[in-house]
Amino acid sequence: MHSEPPTGDEDLPDLATGRYIAGRPSFEVQAGSANSGGKGVSVEIAGAALAAIYEREVNASLERIWENVLDWEHLPWLHRASFVGVREVDAGSWGWRACVLLPQQGEPLPAWIEVCLDRARLRYVTRTLAGLGKGTEIWTHLDPVADRVTRIKVEFHLPSVPVSQGPRDLDTGLPYTRLYTRLWNEDEGMMIRRQAFLDARSAPSRQEGRPVALGSASSLRAQLPKMVDAHGARFRIVEVAGKLCSHTVSCPHLGGPLEDAIPDAEGRIVCPWHGYRFDLRTGKSADGRGLALSAAPAVLENATDEACLVWPRT
Ligand code: FES
Ligand SMILES: [Fe+2]
Repeated sequence: MHSEPPTGDEDLPDLATGRYIAGRPSFEVQAGSANSGGKGVSVEIAGAALAAIYEREVNASLERIWENVLDWEHLPWLHRASFVGVREVDAGSWGWRACVLLPQQGEPLPAWIEVCLDRARLRYVTRTLAGLGKGTEIWTHLDPVADRVTRIKVEFHLPSVPVSQGPRDLDTGLPYTRLYTRLWNEDEGMMIRRQAFLDARSAPSRQEGRPVALGSASSLRAQLPKMVDAHGARFRIVEVAGKLCSHTVSCPHLGGPLEDAIPDAEGRIVCPWHGYRFDLRTGKSADGRGLALSAAPAVLENATDEACLVWPRT
């Protein structure tokens, strides 16, 4: 079976403006590819050879993986070593397409890619439509082997490899398998943490209220930033403009880790997963997105150098 590469100017991005030319139909998995095989069966691509296969188990459910595949926003944040930026995004339940900026020596180079889901056959394809790597098709097959374990098989079809050369030329495919090892390691860490965030959210709510003593304020200041567990929740205490404050360490967007985010002089932090910003003094969004950190206690210091956590934040 063969996929059909985009044909005609109406299907291609305008390289001069970086905008997709109107008229491209809303995407469906292309006919030739969609008809090939069943679950996990390799596809054949016209004009490109299978240069490498990457297989592993990932500690994440199918639900987490589909969510991750649709999440284009994390590319330049979670995968900052592999993507410099993403723009011109068109997304839907079918997948997404966008111009991604790839790091190169000197200026980053653009590539227009689309990611299309074929949920029925537990697979998706990443196609490079134009720019760096044009014509590449990367097919990922998913095989859930346990509740939160999924086996993946990734096939790299490269147009630069003559079909006659045959499959799995190691030298050609090695950079791809190396890249995907790193990307999947990063994605797996994100999905595990997100799953834990969702599990904790569905747990019975905690009883908060009693103040929690933190000991000497001056000794606390010497240990900042400091993680504190109180009433079954985890907070980080930092100092902003001379004042102590605490904040929750899960991002309200998708549960990203905030415990290592370094506050700027005004107490704003950036989540490492998608770059959303928050003001630690208020817990509110600092980028206009409207999300807010979950409530955290205030940190009070008294005249006798004692510090404590007090609910609610004042
Ligand atoms: S989890 Fe998305 S910005 Fe924090
Ligand atoms: Fe990813």
